[in-house]
Amino acid sequence: MKKAPARRKKAEAGTHKLWGGRFAGGPHPALDAVNRSISVDFRLWPHDVRLSKAWAAALAHARVLTARESAQIIKGLDAVAARIADGEKPVATDEDVHTMIDRLLHEEAGAVASRLHTGRSRNDQVATATRLWTLNACDSLDVLIVSLQSAIIAQASRLERAVMPAYTHLQRAQPVSGAHWMLSHFWPLQRDRERLAAARTRTASLPLGSGAIAGSAFPIARARLAKSLGFSAISENSIDAVGDRDFIAEVLFALSLVGAHLSRLAEDLILFGSSEFGFVRYGDAFSTGSSMMPQKRNPDALELARGSSARMLGDLVALMGTIKGLPSGYNKDLQEDKRTLFDAADGMTLLLPAVAGSLAALTFDATRMRAAVSSTMMATDLADYLVRKRVTFREAHGAVGSLVREAEEKGCELGALPFASFKTAHKSFDTNVLNELSAQTSLENREIDGGTGPKSVKRQLSAARAAIRANI
Ligand code: ARG
Repeated sequence: MKKAPARRKKAEAGTHKLWGGRFAGGPHPALDAVNRSISVDFRLWPHDVRLSKAWAAALAHARVLTARESAQIIKGLDAVAARIADGEKPVATDEDVHTMIDRLLHEEAGAVASRLHTGRSRNDQVATATRLWTLNACDSLDVLIVSLQSAIIAQASRLERAVMPAYTHLQRAQPVSGAHWMLSHFWPLQRDRERLAAARTRTASLPLGSGAIAGSAFPIARARLAKSLGFSAISENSIDAVGDRDFIAEVLFALSLVGAHLSRLAEDLILFGSSEFGFVRYGDAFSTGSSMMPQKRNPDALELARGSSARMLGDLVALMGTIKGLPSGYNKDLQEDKRTLFDAADGMTLLLPAVAGSLAALTFDATRMRAAVSSTMMATDLADYLVRKRVTFREAHGAVGSLVREAEEKGCELGALPFASFKTAHKSFDTNVLNELSAQTSLENREIDGGTGPKSVKRQLSAARAAIRANI
């Protein structure tokens, strides 16, 4: 029954526009081409349908539509959603997803469809749809970050007893527990989750009802509308609401930082996987080979994490550049917002599982890690030993410095110097000083909260486990 008018209308698909009454002719093809955004914004369709249904309900509540008209529109929108979910594609003249849905709604619901766009504009519509998309994206990205954090925790618990050098300036600095190093990549991601959650909260403010710029002229119950769409607040100023893309900037910043963190984790693992370090071996499923060198085992996913995080930063910069000089209200420049948002979110959606998978598939070589720790790295422990005997740190630092120089001249490690050298360097050195040159003692001396002492690391592991169980 419904299909006949649908088919009749379909013949006119090429002419469906949301504007144009005031123009004598159609737009130039070059304008059409640059203006069309459907290839980017098509993915907003479920959100556009959802907000349109809520708008139809709100119009009925405000007595702008009859209950019957509203129900017909809502039913029509459900049919539109079913068609798109079934594979309905945009036609060449669909300027954007909003135009496409309006066209399909006319096919499905007939003339009543023309009442839906009452009191709203694509300006408040696109801002609302983009926010709805972003709310979902924040949720799914959070889940992916947590998966990576779980992979970090799993590796950290395996590395609890492993000892390795920690590096400053990429020079061997002090011994740490392998778990301590591994968890140093956990907490940045936890802060990223907090940032994303904060961005999500600000995203959950409803622009719908702002109309094109001045607010809708119909008495829409906006708080009620917000609630029905899962928003926790409504925008306070319609001019601000249609031009506000802060939420995208915040998400892009949060994602750029996730990118930077993935890149740093990847860089550690790429270094540690080189034969020079030999601390880790990449899993087969996350290694690629070389077309020329049969022996190669390359950590491509990690390198792509390092490389593609640059694009996320680019997305942030592009958006900031777009918004910084705009006059208030909506400007078409803002159509570019979605490219940056989707690019960064898509990139992250690919990267996070690849990094989590690469990490989970790694095997650490605790022997190689331990072998990289030399007694010279306990120089600070030697100075601390003297401090415990009431020597000032400055004096202790100088005494240990002279021992390091002596070892360097002899081409040996600190631990290989005879006791006599220690005694000459400072009279407060006793024979038990050699204990201080053990990595284990060095770790055990650091049972401070946040330090690498075995008990501290155990507490840190529990805190990490609790952090991913708790809500943010
Ligand atoms: N495709 C547009 C965008 O993404 C929708 C808003 C169009 N508004 C307008 N006044 N032309 O921003």
